[in-house]
Amino acid sequence: MSIALVILAAGKGTRMHSDIPKVLHPIAQTPMLVHAMRAGASLSPERTVIVAGHGAEAVEKVAIAEDESAIVVRQEEQLGTAHAVMQARDALSDFEGNVIVLYGDTPFIEPDTLQRMIEARASHDLVMLGFDIAQVQPRYGRLIMDGDKLVKVVEYKEANEEQRAIRFTNSGLLTCDAKLLFDLIDQVSNENASGEFYLTEIVAIANARGLTATAIKCDESETLGVDSRADLAAADAEFQSRARATLLELGVTLMAPETVYLAADTVIGRDTVIEPNVVFGPGVTIESGATIRSFSYFEDCHVSRGAIVGPFARLRPGAELGENTRIGNFVEIKNSEIAEGAKVNHLSYVGDASVGAASNIGAGTITCNYDGVLKHRTVIGENVFVGSNTLMVAPVSLGNGAMTAAGTVVTRDVEPDALAMGRARQGNKPGYAKKLVEMLKAKKARKDKGA
Ligand code: UD1
Ligand code: MG
Repeated sequence: MSIALVILAAGKGTRMHSDIPKVLHPIAQTPMLVHAMRAGASLSPERTVIVAGHGAEAVEKVAIAEDESAIVVRQEEQLGTAHAVMQARDALSDFEGNVIVLYGDTPFIEPDTLQRMIEARASHDLVMLGFDIAQVQPRYGRLIMDGDKLVKVVEYKEANEEQRAIRFTNSGLLTCDAKLLFDLIDQVSNENASGEFYLTEIVAIANARGLTATAIKCDESETLGVDSRADLAAADAEFQSRARATLLELGVTLMAPETVYLAADTVIGRDTVIEPNVVFGPGVTIESGATIRSFSYFEDCHVSRGAIVGPFARLRPGAELGENTRIGNFVEIKNSEIAEGAKVNHLSYVGDASVGAASNIGAGTITCNYDGVLKHRTVIGENVFVGSNTLMVAPVSLGNGAMTAAGTVVTRDVEPDALAMGRARQGNKPGYAKKLVEMLKAKKARKDKGA
């Protein structure tokens, strides 16, 4: 059966108190909308329609970056969830099949749950997704069931005391034949406590027409909706604890799991050890058997097996570490390949560079990659020994087996096996240190007396 997703993402999210549209707030460094899109993508939908309103341009940008075939439609005024779905009508006018309505602010829905909704659709015209809420809350609609049959959905504002006590609660997600869905929505009115067009009203309308509706159940944690910063923090915490549990399950050691912050797409191989307090930004892959020491920070980079990184290392976008490399404390690597077995152990900046296999980069080394206008590359060959406190003013290259003397400023290419030495020549003055100290002490004594 063909599937089209309609993802509602027009709401302002007043309670976020933000200039950023709610659905673009990130969980695990990925916008909520993208989480919802990825969950929906698991059904291989034929079409994905996103209903945007507040911050529509920004929403569109993010949506298209995730899926360039997504169709973003506008809901200029937010008149309710039924009105929002209606905005997808034109985009689906020639679509035949099932629509699944998802919310952009409900990011944790599991592919398996969506699959179960589709399965239930085989025997019902309309399927909604509900959950048993642990503590009754005013913000959700109540699902009124009669056995298997979903009779109607009552929003909290319209519910009586008895209905308010019902724990089977509406997640907002539903699935229905496309043509039928728009047909049912045509009948929805806004005569209710909020003056909004409630999507949930289609249940009663369907029943009145002799159609069948049901609701299936999922876990409450899957339907966590985000309406405030506190909800966002709680959702992120929930994501983190699940992602950590998955890593542990896969054979990754997390010495203090609750202190490791993961992104939605972090990949870590088995037998890698992650020490306490490590942060993973988006786009990070750590292969197996690596050791990530405390207080390291990663973004958009790749660490090969057996590497040891940190403590206090920063790997920025484009850092590509080969097998068994060593990146030590207070080292920053950006847009650079560090080949197998190479070491950058202390206090260095390596940017826009390549470091050949088994080379050693001494403490305090800096690639001067930026001239204030343009970025330039530094190319370091294999088995190169870069002495401490070397500055390499890019563009520059060091051939295989080359060395630099400590404190050298490299401004010209160094040929293979050559030693580059570029620093002021040292002269020693015998006895001068002692004389100087005596002179300074005498000066201080005169000053103390005078004061
Ligand atoms: C809705 C449901 C409620 C359910 C709850 C689950 C209705 C009438 N009520 O209530 O039964 O328990 O979700 O979270 O459907 N949106 C638009 N355009 C609009 C209105 C909303 O795009 O005009 C989007 C919002 O951005 C959001 C989603 O639809 O992503 C839900 O809207 P929201 O206002 O949060 O609905 P609730 O009042 O929470
Ligand atoms: Mg809501």
